Amino acid sequence: MPTLEVVVNGLTFPNPFVIGSGPPSTNATIMNKAFAAGWGGVVAKTTALSDTTVVNVQPRYGKLRSKSRDNVGFQNIELISDRTFEDWEDDFKKVKDTWPDRVLIGSIMESFHKDRWQEVARRSVDAGCDALELNFSCPHGHPESGMGAAMGQDPAQVEEVTGWVREAVGDTPIWAKMTPNITNITVPAMAAMSGGASGVSAINTILACIGVNLKTLRPQPTVQGYSTFGGYSYLAVKPIALRMVAEIAQASPGITISGIGGVTSSTDAIEHMLLGARTVQSCTGPMLQGFGMVTELIEGTLAFMEQHGFETLDELIGKSLPYLTTHHHLVELQTAKKAAQAARRASRDNAWGKGDVKEETAALVSNE
Ligand SMILES: Cc1cc2nc3c(=O)[nH]c(=O)nc-3n(C[C@H](O)[C@H](O)[C@H](O)COP(=O)(O)O)c2cc1C
Repeated sequence: MPTLEVVVNGLTFPNPFVIGSGPPSTNATIMNKAFAAGWGGVVAKTTALSDTTVVNVQPRYGKLRSKSRDNVGFQNIELISDRTFEDWEDDFKKVKDTWPDRVLIGSIMESFHKDRWQEVARRSVDAGCDALELNFSCPHGHPESGMGAAMGQDPAQVEEVTGWVREAVGDTPIWAKMTPNITNITVPAMAAMSGGASGVSAINTILACIGVNLKTLRPQPTVQGYSTFGGYSYLAVKPIALRMVAEIAQASPGITISGIGGVTSSTDAIEHMLLGARTVQSCTGPMLQGFGMVTELIEGTLAFMEQHGFETLDELIGKSLPYLTTHHHLVELQTAKKAAQAARRASRDNAWGKGDVKEETAALVSNE
């Protein structure tokens, strides 16, 4: 019987399925529900010190549906948590007391001040977080004040802030959460590793405009007649997330990656792992499908492992990476295959004329 248990930066996850930072991890009640449903880990909703002003708007979500009305994409303009950090400290303690065998990851974001990042990091760990995720990646709202994706798009800041947090929390695992709103995601990922990160999480949401109301001509979601670009997630972003996870894995073989983006079923999660993710997060998935989706994630992944004869996740993580190559190499492979076929055809008289006669002749010439 295969096992889903996986050790990541010294932490044992009973399974690799982790709630991504957001509404499904916004207080102790909901995090406890996630663990009760069977999730191996939870990344809490991002928090900051209590004097950071967070004012959310509503509505703040929008859906993209296919012609058959299935949800395929989701957009939000939600900020980080509007709760006080003291509330979060209480919640971290409560959750960890209730679920000592599960992995609780605090998610933190701050302005570019060493003392603030170090305080929020240290207090999160003191309150019971097993690991920290550094939010360098929220693409809306916070970048307007130099936080989130504004920091994540500046590799020098990513490296420096990661170094501050590393200094504050000693050996506690730190994952730097990457923004996809950048040309080359490997640059900030490597900067985080140079700063002392234990791994990276990828991806946060993609900056987008979910649509325009054709009656009112207003972009969505509309607040008092106006809108702003928001973070795009769910199934539609999976191809971009898979590409970015693979790029990071290729840039630094063996790096710890928490794959995020478009995980709605075990198939999606397995794809993330095959391209290098050691854990897989889902945020919009549980929002739209409920926490119970973890049952299919577990059963589907175990069935896949049995089918392929994998005993442990280590045997499948990154297994598809060697099959990603350059376009130039694909052309070379195809040309070599065509030449081999022509040579086979040309070597038998009965097969002559099935292909191009000039190619068949050339295949038999030794000094072409
Ligand atoms: C409504 C909403 C709120 C989110 N809030 C946060 C947040 O506070 N911190 C964070 O790091 N990511 C946040 N995210 C991003 C998710 O954690 C995740 O990176 C992204 O949605 C892609 O994964 P998914 O397709 O599984 O949702 C949020 C996503 C959504 C949909």
